[in-house]
Amino acid sequence: MRFFVPRDAAARAVGADKVAAALHDEARRRGIEIQIVRTGSRGLFWLEPMVEVETPDGRIAFGPAKPGDAPGLLTAGASHPLYLGRPEDIPFLKRQTRLTFARCGIVDPLSLADWRAHGGGRGLERARSLGAAATLQEVAKSGLRGRGGAGFPTGIKWKTVADTVADRKYVVCNADEGDSGTFADRMLLEGDPFALIEGMAIAGLAVGAAKGFVYIRSEYPDAVRTFERAVSLAEADGLLGAAAGFDIEVRVGAGAYVCGEETALLESIEGKRGQVRAKPPLPAHKGLFGRPTVVNNVVTLATVPWILAEGAEAYSVLGMGRSRGTMPIQLAGNVRHGGLFETAFGVTLGELVDGIGGGTRSGRPVRAVQVGGPLGAYFPRALFDTAFDYEAFAARDGLIGHGGIVVFDETVDMMRQAGFAMEFCAIESCGKCTPCRIGSTRGVETLDRIRRGERVAANLELIEDLCQTMKFGSLCALGGFTPYPVMSALRHFPEDFVRRARAVA
Ligand code: NAI
Ligand code: SF4
Repeated sequence: MRFFVPRDAAARAVGADKVAAALHDEARRRGIEIQIVRTGSRGLFWLEPMVEVETPDGRIAFGPAKPGDAPGLLTAGASHPLYLGRPEDIPFLKRQTRLTFARCGIVDPLSLADWRAHGGGRGLERARSLGAAATLQEVAKSGLRGRGGAGFPTGIKWKTVADTVADRKYVVCNADEGDSGTFADRMLLEGDPFALIEGMAIAGLAVGAAKGFVYIRSEYPDAVRTFERAVSLAEADGLLGAAAGFDIEVRVGAGAYVCGEETALLESIEGKRGQVRAKPPLPAHKGLFGRPTVVNNVVTLATVPWILAEGAEAYSVLGMGRSRGTMPIQLAGNVRHGGLFETAFGVTLGELVDGIGGGTRSGRPVRAVQVGGPLGAYFPRALFDTAFDYEAFAARDGLIGHGGIVVFDETVDMMRQAGFAMEFCAIESCGKCTPCRIGSTRGVETLDRIRRGERVAANLELIEDLCQTMKFGSLCALGGFTPYPVMSALRHFPEDFVRRARAVA
């Protein structure tokens, strides 16, 4: 009898280890032979720890489980209070198009045999048979764009690196997932690390790089551990190493948000302080150690194997406009059904928040959502018809970023949220350019003045002016995008600023 219990950090945080131990102890006590497979998470966080049991009809899920449920779970059937049925029939999962996350929550993340049995390795195999040029073409044809946030076409980035002549090239994976409400990178690192390894090996083959680095944030100790172990297993297996012509080294960040910016990340890998470099030169021309470098996010690289295995066309038929394929959308904050929802681009914000997320956990009406991390815009309900698409969000002065949606109910104070954005920028600024370093601190002070009711009209004008300077004068997205949350809060929720100011006056 096989049981599947996630070892994803989110599931562990709500007691998955204890549930696994209790199942083990109870089975031993009763002399029942069971095997417990620790998987990644399916991403239905409100049901974690979600335990699955293998039956002749496939897996059956139960959750959220507590250690005390172990005795019942050993013999549980459809009448069990935690019975959820077949995981793939749970509406949250059923409505998804899982390509990048197809194996996540299903396989043992550290079993190469399991990975292969579920299609792992087919993408790399096809890339090897196609050769570098045709692999590049395939990635370009798929329409895949960078999932870290900027949405730059992956095929063009890879081609730039491939076409740049150099003695050495690198593939760098950005796993410094710093956006609030995001966890897609972490889930992949913990739930299907070989997908990333395979994607990086394909990138190396396509651009002519023999070495890759994965830069993981230190706040993800489970991901670091799992991924390092996966690299060792891949080396022992020959998936990585001399015979494969590709190596991967893991580097752990030290907690600076700005190290998610690609050039600061490269500086950090080189052992320097994580400070942003001016572009040009682009990393694709002159990146790590001055060599042409592909810098891609975890999700981008882990999607490539599926594209190669199934063909560019199968990927590009999904989506809308220039946003092709699927996006792992992460629902967080005050939401009833928080978790990861992979779907083709084009679903509206309203469907995501109300339909899939089920509204707020507090039960109060949704007032605002922040999309795209701490530098993303706040959207009011009036804009819930916005389609999840890079261009549709940009047209409404927002960004989808890394796909994180943080939900707030009607108790949110949007002026406080605007202040938080400026404060975040002031704390995380690398200090290299003036609009961000000085502007964010002046922003905090100016918003404080508004809060205190001091010269409100003049200070509101000043904030707008400051935001324009930061947006167009900052060297990187940290200073350049901080105006999005601030201005969207002001534009869509002006009453919070005026009300506060009036209350003080
Ligand atoms: P960018 O627009 O400057 O560049 C996007 C990517 O395309 C970079 O890798 C750049 O080197 C590359 N590129 C641009 N032109 C190129 C060309 N002609 N040939 C080859 N490569 C080219 O954006 P940036 O500053 O790299 O990223 C900003 C984004 O990062 C934001 O949209 C934000 O959402 C996201 N972000 C994500 C976070 C996360 O946790 N995942 C955290 C913070 C920000
Ligand atoms: Fe550094 Fe901020 Fe300038 Fe980016 S915008 S380079 S984080 S000071």
